[in-house]
Formats: sequence, C-alpha cells, structure tokens
Amino acid sequence: MICAWAHGKAILLGEHAVVYGRPAIAVPVMARKAVVEVEQGPQGEGILIVAEDLQQRYFMGASDVDEHGQFLSAAVRGALEALVPEGPWPSLVIRVRSSVPIARGMGSGAAVSAAIARALAAYFGKEWEPETLSRLVFATEMLLHGTPSGIDNNVVAYERPIWFTKTQGARPLAVKAPFDLVIGDTGIRSRTRDAVTKVRRQWEEAPDRIERLFDAIGEVAQEGARAIMEGELARLGALMNHNQALLEALGVSSRALERLIEAARTAGAWGAKLSGSGMGGCMIALVPPEQASAIEEALRTAGAVDTILTQVQATAGDVNDSGGYHAG
Ligand code: PMV
Repeated sequence: MICAWAHGKAILLGEHAVVYGRPAIAVPVMARKAVVEVEQGPQGEGILIVAEDLQQRYFMGASDVDEHGQFLSAAVRGALEALVPEGPWPSLVIRVRSSVPIARGMGSGAAVSAAIARALAAYFGKEWEPETLSRLVFATEMLLHGTPSGIDNNVVAYERPIWFTKTQGARPLAVKAPFDLVIGDTGIRSRTRDAVTKVRRQWEEAPDRIERLFDAIGEVAQEGARAIMEGELARLGALMNHNQALLEALGVSSRALERLIEAARTAGAWGAKLSGSGMGGCMIALVPPEQASAIEEALRTAGAVDTILTQVQATAGDVNDSGGYHAG
C-alpha cells in the first residue's frame, strides 16, 4: 500500500487582490494535512475513492456522485491521465482523509488533490516536479473556484513560503526569522467562488475604488515580503492589521472573523487578519511564541471552533532582496 500527503496553507497577505494581478504571500500549514492511501483493487472493479471524513464511497465514472465525488474523481483522473496516458487504468482503492478543514480558506481542496496526485505517482514508481504537480492541482481547483489565482496549488506543491503573482507564478520567499501563527476557525463554511464573485461585482460597479484597494493590498504584500526577509515580525503584524482593514473595505470580512481577530490582538498578537476568501472560514494571527497558548485560549473563548498553532521555518529563498521583485 502506498501513502502520500500534502499540507494545508494560509494566505499571509494579499488574498483577493492576487486574482487581479497583485502579489500575495502564502505559507504552508504543516500542522494540518491531507493523507491518501492507494492500493490495488479487486480485478475488474475499476477505481473506488473512499472519502473517510465524509463517510462516502465514490466509483469513478458513476453518474450519481455529489460535488465532493466529482472533485475527487477529477483529481484522480487528472493524475492518471498524466501518469498513464495510454491506459488502461488498473483497479484501485484510493482512501482520502484530511485534517485540513473544508471550505475554511486553508487550501483543503488543493491539499487533497496534491496528496492524491502524489500517492498515484508513487504507486507507479514516479514523483512529480513541484511545477507539474502545481499545474495538475490548478486544473482540479478550476472546478472548485472557477477562476483561481493559482496561489493555493503553488504553495501546496512547493511546501514553502511563496511570493506569488498571477503573471510570474510562485517564487520561494526567504524567511530570516521563524515565526508562529495561530489560526482560528469561525466554523462557518465559506465558498471561495462566492467571495470571489462578490468582489468581482463590486469591481464592476466601482472599478476605480476597488482598484485602489487592490493597489494598497499589493503594497502591503510588498512591504510584508521585506519584513519577512528582514525578520521584522512586529512590522509584519502591523501590515497584517492594515491588510485586514483593506479586506473589510472590500466587504469580505464578517462579524465572526472580526470577533476572533480582535480577541487575538487583545491577547497579545502582533497582528491578525482573515485568511483566504473570507466571509467565514479562518483568521490568522502572528504571535510572540510565549503568548501562543494564551491567544489560542482567547480565540476559543471568543467562539473559535478550532485553533491551530503552526510555525513557519526560516529558509533561504529566491526572493531575498527587496530589488528582486516587483508588484503588479
Ligand atoms: O479561500 P481560499 O483559501 O481558497 O483562498 C482564496 C484566495 C483568493 O485570493 C480569494 C482567491 C484566489 O484564487 O486566489
């Protein structure tokens, strides 16, 4: 039996504006992952996908599958078409489970489809280059999001902090000092597609105002990259707070998110903001390590259904001097 996994992700700065060409920064969330096991199935029975968390079983090619089944089947099909283009495909049992919460802005779809692709490659004795894996995951993400920017598939495939623009793709970001993030889950599911559509409508109605907000978010991401490269965590926190204000102006925040954000700041976070598409889902707080557990507790008291503490490691990167990249 073959087993592979992929981690969740959090967008640190720049969500939504990234769909319109501005830069964004995302980090892997090593504390949560999707795990996929593949084994040979009974001869002639085709491909069975077992979604353990959902307690569902889907046969590939069956016509009566729900949205989750369609997504999982698409991920399997995409990987198999790349691995065994000529066919025939063997009978397989593919078991999927994930500790990345669904529809909370933590990249659960990207993590599941990356783990499926990795497990299937390993089953055939192969391994993906991150770029190929990212492309495969992107194709499946199109089903979920409609017009994804590409940030989720990249951070999940590269498994390291990235600087991302739609035109230039992902570049590894140098992290001078490790930092701790506490993630708080509102428990409210939010569909990326809905939030992206809401922003699109506003942009159509008031393009100048929304473009100005996108520009400001892009500048925050640019400044944030510098703060990460220089290890200036208090500054990074202040930028996260500023990004949150801009996301509120964009209309994608919510009362539940703001309650958690406020609680984290009051309990000593350097900064806090929603993460991902917003309107529900998760918030993230940049926290001094010694405050982490107090902040987690404050979040739970303020109504978080789950909290996750995760560390972003120091690493070298491509983007390691402030002249090396440009917004837009
Ligand atoms: O909610 P998530 O994690 O899927 O994040 C979406 C991020 C957006 O910028 C809102 C959309 C995108 O495709 O980048």
